[in-house]
Amino acid sequence: MVPRMSLLPLDPDELLSTTRAVRKRLDFDRPVPDDLVRECVSIAMQSPSGSNNPSMQFVVVRDAAKKAAVGQIYRECFEMYKTWDGVYIGSIDKGSADANEQQARSASSADYLGERMGEAPALIIACNAGARADKMPAVMSANMFGNILPAMWSFMLAARARGLGTAWTTLHLFREQEVADILGIPFDTVQQACLSPLAFTKGTDFKPAARPTADTIIHWDQW
Ligand SMILES: Cc1cc2nc3c(=O)[nH]c(=O)nc-3n(C[C@H](O)[C@H](O)[C@H](O)COP(=O)(O)O)c2cc1C
Repeated sequence: MVPRMSLLPLDPDELLSTTRAVRKRLDFDRPVPDDLVRECVSIAMQSPSGSNNPSMQFVVVRDAAKKAAVGQIYRECFEMYKTWDGVYIGSIDKGSADANEQQARSASSADYLGERMGEAPALIIACNAGARADKMPAVMSANMFGNILPAMWSFMLAARARGLGTAWTTLHLFREQEVADILGIPFDTVQQACLSPLAFTKGTDFKPAARPTADTIIHWDQW
């Protein structure tokens, strides 16, 4: 484990419930030290893996030209997504004025990142090495994604604890191969699962979000 930088005073439940998709509060002007990225990846590697065989990989993009190229692809994918009524975050009716107001704020935040992804100090692409899910039976693809998705969430939690912001995104995967080519990722054997900006946040006071209550989603003993 690399030495630990100072952490925010968040208890485990606060950390878990205040790690938001950060977009408008990313500080694009403050560089993120490589050692901080190493710490977050080291923490992420403590997540579980099928057969105790970790296959997760993290591509950290700092080069300005490569970030701009990935950011342009993300922007174009986001523009396409914005035309999909009922799928685009800003077009989903949440059923009440309050919830729709919150949804509009999330959409505005997502639009902002759509424009500025490539300007983040670093872009993190969580990948799985081995084989592509589209060539596997479900049990194997569940194993594959089960290796990388918890690791990426752990990375995001570790980042939040260090004053860094992240935002889970997947839209660039419409053009995953182009991003693979820009970054030299072997497309046939390495699958990308998530793209996130990484930056210090402007302020660290994030709040729990409104979510369905536990009793609306638990199925005790039977669905
Ligand atoms: C599987 C998945 C895909 C997502 N894809 C995108 C995306 O492409 N662009 C984006 O801005 N946010 C994306 N998000 C972030 C969600 O919009 C965000 O998690 C949601 O609005 C709830 O906000 P919160 O995470 O701050 O609670 C994604 C989240 C998940 C889990």
